[in-house]
Amino acid sequence: MSTNIFKQDFYVSRNHREKLMNQKSILIWFTGLSGSGKSTVANALESKLHSLNFKTYTLDGDNVRGGLNNNLSFSDEDRSENIRRIAEVSKLFLDAGTIIIACFVSPFEKDRQLVKQIVGNEDYVEVFVDTPIEECEKRDVKGLYKKARLGEIKDFTGISSPYEAPKNPDILIDTSKLSIENSVNLIFEKINDKIKLN
Ligand code: PPS
Repeated sequence: MSTNIFKQDFYVSRNHREKLMNQKSILIWFTGLSGSGKSTVANALESKLHSLNFKTYTLDGDNVRGGLNNNLSFSDEDRSENIRRIAEVSKLFLDAGTIIIACFVSPFEKDRQLVKQIVGNEDYVEVFVDTPIEECEKRDVKGLYKKARLGEIKDFTGISSPYEAPKNPDILIDTSKLSIENSVNLIFEKINDKIKLN
């Protein structure tokens, strides 16, 4: 823990930046199993927001783990540290006035609660991509379920590591039932008022 730290305030604030960009920043947090469709829906959502002139940025599990968090494994402790760091990065992006779309398995309730605590309740919108594991495993786009079943990957979410389903998500989508377009529309309806500057 760092000591002798003094928070520095700057003249240009989040409000100023939001005003300049004509939007309000929020964090849209996707949680769900590997292969559930988090990144696919997030990708389509970001494209829609971008086409409507909103300033966005997507943080994605595989990408963040390739850089900032490349020293972290998939143990429970490292997953928590992964999510904590992403929450802190998200907080910076919120201060920058950006709409953040975050796609992380984030399997533990306490970690998701910590994100909410770090960024603030009012800025956090949780999207639970509740696609059944059978469907995720059938898709197996990256071949990870096959490897997990063979014991070649340990601590694989849904197979050898738990996924704690959110009890009260803001939005729930099941991509085995709902199209990508309809999923995006559902999320957009929910966030539309939150990202508009009054
Ligand atoms: S976590 O649990 O939130 O820390 O995971 P995350 O940072 O989102 O990373 C998930 C992606 O890493 C790949 N992968 C695994 N996922 C789950 N369990 C294990 N053991 C694992 N090993 C590698 C996988 O590609 C995940 O991406 P998605 O997009 O979810 O499929």
